[in-house]
Amino acid sequence: MSIDHPSFGRIADDRVILFDTTLRDGEQSPGFSMNLTEKLRMAEALAELGVDVIEAGFPVASQGDFDSVQEIARVVRGPVICGLARTGGRDDIARAAEAVRTAARPRIHNFISTSPLHMKYKLRMEPETVLELVTRGNVAARNHTDDVEWSAEDGSRTEPDFLCRCVEAAIVAGATTINIPDTVGYATPEDMAAIFTMLRERVPGADTVILSAHNHNDLGLAVANTIASLKAGVRQIECTINGIGERAGNAALEEIVMALRTRQDALPYSNNIKTPNLLRVSRMLATITGFDVQPNKAIVGRNAFAHESGIHQDGMLKNAATYEIMTPESVGWTKSSLILGKHSGRAAFRDKLAALGYGELGDNQLNDAFARFKSLADHKKTVYDEDIVALVDDEVRDH
Ligand code: KIV
Ligand code: ZN
Repeated sequence: MSIDHPSFGRIADDRVILFDTTLRDGEQSPGFSMNLTEKLRMAEALAELGVDVIEAGFPVASQGDFDSVQEIARVVRGPVICGLARTGGRDDIARAAEAVRTAARPRIHNFISTSPLHMKYKLRMEPETVLELVTRGNVAARNHTDDVEWSAEDGSRTEPDFLCRCVEAAIVAGATTINIPDTVGYATPEDMAAIFTMLRERVPGADTVILSAHNHNDLGLAVANTIASLKAGVRQIECTINGIGERAGNAALEEIVMALRTRQDALPYSNNIKTPNLLRVSRMLATITGFDVQPNKAIVGRNAFAHESGIHQDGMLKNAATYEIMTPESVGWTKSSLILGKHSGRAAFRDKLAALGYGELGDNQLNDAFARFKSLADHKKTVYDEDIVALVDDEVRDH
């Protein structure tokens, strides 16, 4: 059954809403805070990338956060602009509503913890009080906008009956998106699938709202948990660029999107992301925050399309599909790179020589130059083009 959503209208069954929280959950990781200008630049880039929702910040948290959310709501067009609020916070919902007011499509996202651990030690509240707040908070949010999201913080560790009751209360009170975070990155893919299957089976009205997944990466399972949630009926996924976020981060947008794109056979869902923009947005975030992505990071790490071993380079020169499951161009790289190092073979070396203008070396010269290159590569971590030019020039001179 397709859902009629206040911001998106009728949503096709296979359509996945991409909710980007780089500017809120991502910004909450130590050292990653951004000023208003930086957030605005990122928000424009996210809009160009094609995300459906930008969670721009937590307006009650600070005047700076409020100002950034307000400015993004005023200026950025395309995505829904969302502000975060505590369900039971004193001024949270009013502040979030004020901050997103000028957006073409504003959303208020309110959340409260529902797990026994969080209710007892963090909130110091009885479950029934939390339940009452869920109703009150969502009614209050709906008084400001039709697009309201509610999250059960620590939802994956919440007692199932209580989770069902809270979700039902949120829907009755007017929430149009229900998000179940794996706040501490504890769940397995099977756990997340079971939670969403249960909600769809047991909660009246669950088929009239968008179910949403928000997975943290403490066990490195955030993307797998998100994919499993999609298969179990979720149609909004919450994620960040480069997977930044609290502690080990959130599910990485670029990884989820490329999994969907590359494995359409197994994951037949649609979205609006312009994947050739992925590298640019990743780099922009790294520049703004001062944190590079790790070299082996999927999709956007500098080694994601780099090949050093001789066997792989030989395969790549014959047909790139031998060792690449997507094209570098499809995510914003200009091309793959064959890195020359101690594992490289003659085929890549010859290819590099041709690229450097030494295409017509005879077999003997090539063999000698290759031997010199291998001995250099054994001692030097990175062999630059200039090193190769120098050793080939030596070779030519010696003959
Ligand atoms: O991880 C989490 O539980 C959150 C909520 C505020 C949605 O970020
Ligand atoms: Zn989170």
